[in-house]
Amino acid sequence: MNNYVRVLLVGDLIGNPGLALFEKWIPSLKEKHALDAIVVNGENAAKNGKGITPKIIDFLKEKGAAVITTGNHVYEHKDVYNVLNERNDIIRPANYPPGCPGKGVAFFTVLGQTVAVVNIMGRVFMRDMLDCPFRTIESLLIFIKTKTNLIFVDFHAETTAEKRAMATFLDGKVSCLVGTHTHIQTADEQIMPGGTGYVTDLGGCGALFSAIGMEADTIVQRFLLHNHVGGKFVVQTTGPMVLSGVIVDVDMTTGKAIKIQNMRIVDDQISQTLAQEK
Ligand SMILES: [Fe+2]
Ligand SMILES: [Fe+2]
Repeated sequence: MNNYVRVLLVGDLIGNPGLALFEKWIPSLKEKHALDAIVVNGENAAKNGKGITPKIIDFLKEKGAAVITTGNHVYEHKDVYNVLNERNDIIRPANYPPGCPGKGVAFFTVLGQTVAVVNIMGRVFMRDMLDCPFRTIESLLIFIKTKTNLIFVDFHAETTAEKRAMATFLDGKVSCLVGTHTHIQTADEQIMPGGTGYVTDLGGCGALFSAIGMEADTIVQRFLLHNHVGGKFVVQTTGPMVLSGVIVDVDMTTGKAIKIQNMRIVDDQISQTLAQEK
């Protein structure tokens, strides 16, 4: 038996295209790469690309997600608040102020080992009122380390600088740190000097020819005119779709990453299935 745990981390699923990609590709990826667990960011999984619903949480769990992470859109749908409080397999950024629904850490067991997943959120160019993500995770790690040294962190943040700073801050303290939120995959997957697997952003899962998963024409109008005049974000459901993430191997004894690989699948068939479902 291998002495490592292999985890696929999937970036923000965007609306129905994101859900369809997850449903279609997870079984074959699981088999092909002998995955032990899957962690997915579901903050844009609702049909309009904002937030997540109880039904979608059940769907993603049924399709193989061990833990669902989120981000700044987590509180879009009020019917999810109780679910966030009650369930232990969907988390929201840990540095939301105390009193916000949900929790920022999840534990699950794989290959007889306890694994922790932590969600934190950046503050640069983000509108939400948040506690310091650096100090938040620093204090959380004191508790988490009493349970396991297999620790995966989803840092939901806008800027590359804040993410790289967090990578340096957490290097050697967590097994893997991945960025989410920009919906654009970066090509800097690496193992940091202290043994932490890292990528600045996993990338989104949705339309390839879009503006971060939304119909690009609307976004152009929002830049040319005014946010309100340009129109509302609409999830793009046509054309080729992309599923993005990384696969990380973590040594079960040391908790350090031993390998990190980019995962990116372009699917030019799936939008036809989406069109039939409409
Ligand atoms: Fe997102
Ligand atoms: Fe986000």
